[in-house]
Amino acid sequence: MRTIPFGSPIIGDEERNAVAQVLSGPILTHGPRVKEFEALFAHYTGAKDAIAVSSCTAALHLAYHCLGLGPGDEVIVPAETHVATAHAAELVGARPVFVDAEKDTGNIDIDQIEAQLTERTRVIAIVHYLGMPVNMHRVMEIAKKHNLFVVEDCALAIGTYLDGMHAGLFGDVGCFSFYPVKHITTAEGGMVLAKSRETVEKISRQRAFGIDRNIVSERDIPGIYDVVELGLNYRLNELGAALGIEQMKKIDSFLQKRQENYTSLTTGLADIGEIELLQSSHDGYQSSYYCQTIILKEPLFKKRFEIVNYLKQHGLGTSVYYPRPVPHLRYYKDKYGYSDTSFPVASRISGNSIALPVGPHVSHEDINYMVTTIKNAIMEVK
Ligand SMILES: Cc1ncc(COP(=O)(O)O)c(C=O)c1O
Repeated sequence: MRTIPFGSPIIGDEERNAVAQVLSGPILTHGPRVKEFEALFAHYTGAKDAIAVSSCTAALHLAYHCLGLGPGDEVIVPAETHVATAHAAELVGARPVFVDAEKDTGNIDIDQIEAQLTERTRVIAIVHYLGMPVNMHRVMEIAKKHNLFVVEDCALAIGTYLDGMHAGLFGDVGCFSFYPVKHITTAEGGMVLAKSRETVEKISRQRAFGIDRNIVSERDIPGIYDVVELGLNYRLNELGAALGIEQMKKIDSFLQKRQENYTSLTTGLADIGEIELLQSSHDGYQSSYYCQTIILKEPLFKKRFEIVNYLKQHGLGTSVYYPRPVPHLRYYKDKYGYSDTSFPVASRISGNSIALPVGPHVSHEDINYMVTTIKNAIMEVK
């Protein structure tokens, strides 16, 4: 039997040595490695600047905070996302207004966005679901027409491109995650890309209490600074940045392996009549291939956990993206009264899907084993 975890960071001697070097020196935070990691990430994505933060949740919180959202404001949020996309809006006092997913990709159904806009809407937040890009041309058109900001949740979208442009560069702010199962990792960590210089400067200040850095350097007296606005402590430390620098050197090979694994797995699963696969390619669309998701068809609807258990017993790690549409999570249901029958497309994906690993820790032999094991699991529970 093989053991294939859903996600597993690839940490080599390069990462171990880089972290050990940080630990041998005096600078654990606020140091040169964060700056170097930011420069590498900006160069990789084609952004002018990148701001390293402590997680993607921190990035999203900073994004909404910096755009000035507050009580009375509304944010369009995809129903099929991680709770962080919505929680960050709640944390600044704004209300997330959810929009269902489109059937083929699981991305936000752009056709339904305009019907949800009110005079209180300030932001459209989108998530590139499982790394498949949202049609940002259409989202930006709607945003322009209604004078709205756009925040891209790119937690699963390093290596996601639309017509040659990297995800996170279309909207006003793009937010990335380096959690261990992601495309690259800093243990915990995130990155912000922002379109305008003003937003970059604001988010840089707000990730560190709102301190006016110019005053620090102008005065050059330790411990003396001024605070010009409300901020948080959402900095990435030097250990995370050291990991991130080494991971950036390997990112092309990581992404290539993901795509190869995804393609082989898709081919292997193609003749299983009991499942559907989400669309993962289109002209001009480059996915980051975060994972492969199978959606069980009708006769297997109630057998999902039996299948997952069978896969687990046979060493195959799985996950679910995401366990429920966010408006069906208890906090949001209790607060806003969403019914279980709302958001039918997101509900179908959340309720009937199993996410399978395609990361660089998965070998070609693992893929063959996964295909056979999935077929056996379906035979077993039918
Ligand atoms: C779409 C999305 N947004 C945000 C997050 C939160 O990321 P982090 O753990 O870096 O805060 C996740 C985590 O998986 C995610 O999938």
